[in-house]
Amino acid sequence: MPDLMDQLAGELTAARDRTLLLTGHDEPELLRQHSPLMSPLVWDLAHIGQQEDLWLLRGGDARCTGLLPPDVESLYNAFVHPRAVRDKLPLLPPVEARAFCAEVRGRVLDRMERFEAGQSPDGMAPFDVAMVVSHEQQHDETMLQTLQLRTGPALLGPGTPLPPGRPELAGTTVLVPGGPFTLGVDGTDEPFSLDNERPAHTVDVPSFRIGRVPVTNAEVAAFVDDEGYDQPRWWSARGWQHRCDAELSRPQFWHPGGTRTRFGIVEELPADEPVQHVTAFEAEAFAAWTAQHRPGARLPTEVEWEKAAAWDPAAGRRRRFPWGATDPTPELANLGGHALRPAPVGAYPAGASAYGVEQLMGDVWEWTSSPFRPWPGFTPMLYADYSAPFFGDDYRVLRGGSWAVGASIVRPSFRNWDHPIRRQVFSGIRLAFDA
Ligand code: AVJ
Ligand code: FE
Repeated sequence: MPDLMDQLAGELTAARDRTLLLTGHDEPELLRQHSPLMSPLVWDLAHIGQQEDLWLLRGGDARCTGLLPPDVESLYNAFVHPRAVRDKLPLLPPVEARAFCAEVRGRVLDRMERFEAGQSPDGMAPFDVAMVVSHEQQHDETMLQTLQLRTGPALLGPGTPLPPGRPELAGTTVLVPGGPFTLGVDGTDEPFSLDNERPAHTVDVPSFRIGRVPVTNAEVAAFVDDEGYDQPRWWSARGWQHRCDAELSRPQFWHPGGTRTRFGIVEELPADEPVQHVTAFEAEAFAAWTAQHRPGARLPTEVEWEKAAAWDPAAGRRRRFPWGATDPTPELANLGGHALRPAPVGAYPAGASAYGVEQLMGDVWEWTSSPFRPWPGFTPMLYADYSAPFFGDDYRVLRGGSWAVGASIVRPSFRNWDHPIRRQVFSGIRLAFDA
């Protein structure tokens, strides 16, 4: 137990270092609303502290007053204040938000120490600390989405270098033979898995093929050049409606002439990099266009995706990660948010799954065809409104995690979700095919 609490304290610190890096800008910068889809960065900052105060210092009991007066605390309730209007709220100024987060964190670490020393019978559970780490890391990714929407001179630089790719893998596929596998995880195998990943259960999946790597910018550029965005036949009815309402003509942040803007830098579109910033509707239209010459092309279901990522058919059991049991490293996957971009396809041969599928973890979130629904036997965790309010047909599941995801919070069972019209997320495409 002491080792576990030490490890969790380290993860809290790593998440906070990232938060402070992403919010280490001047006051006007932190107060800016860059898009109605995103909060001002100073909202995310204080919300991170508010959630930590609620789940770890008050055991989730919102009737108890925390470190903020109730009227201030309520400003950070995401269900009450939509993102578009958060800049109109009397938010804590950056200096106070930082001090509040530091005060909460100091108390949390004190309690963890007492828990370790066995002095606190009602100390916080390790799971709840891990849940709060995941929450902060997820908001760090959200803040990177905000910074990508920001206009003006670059704040973050070009990002850290990535390994070279194997561009010849673009468009290739791998067969996943039919048969049952174990979908989802339990607290015994994955103690920090969130409520929507549980429980583990057996699902039979017919044979399918899946892209060995994600779809590249070059592949989507061919769809754009073939007037794919102007032909309703490739789009679902809802997708075409959205394409018209939002006047979509190419992935977000692309410019005519083969360039894009990435964190304030205009650069040539890298042909072999996985496409990002597409809606689920664009992903589906790309798949339908591809199916002209490659029959059966479509998006994978999330169940197919998880089988391709986690199942080891020879061993007859799940792997912790696609490549095996070891934690992610920079040789295995592009995670952690420092690259500021996906790696080119084929950059992680050592990260392949048992079936030979690559780049499942990191690089881009991959749209699936699945609505976000609970697994049978779903039980909400302490933060009961994390998943349950979003179940239903409004949200679509994304899998795998982008380059912006914290390495310690993602697993093959991790489920992300968003409206299918959203593309400020670092969302990309992996095709599947009927076998
Ligand atoms: C799981 C990424 C969809 O940002 O809406 C953050 C994560 N939940 N605070 C979101 C979350 C509450 C969530 N996503
Ligand atoms: Fe949140």
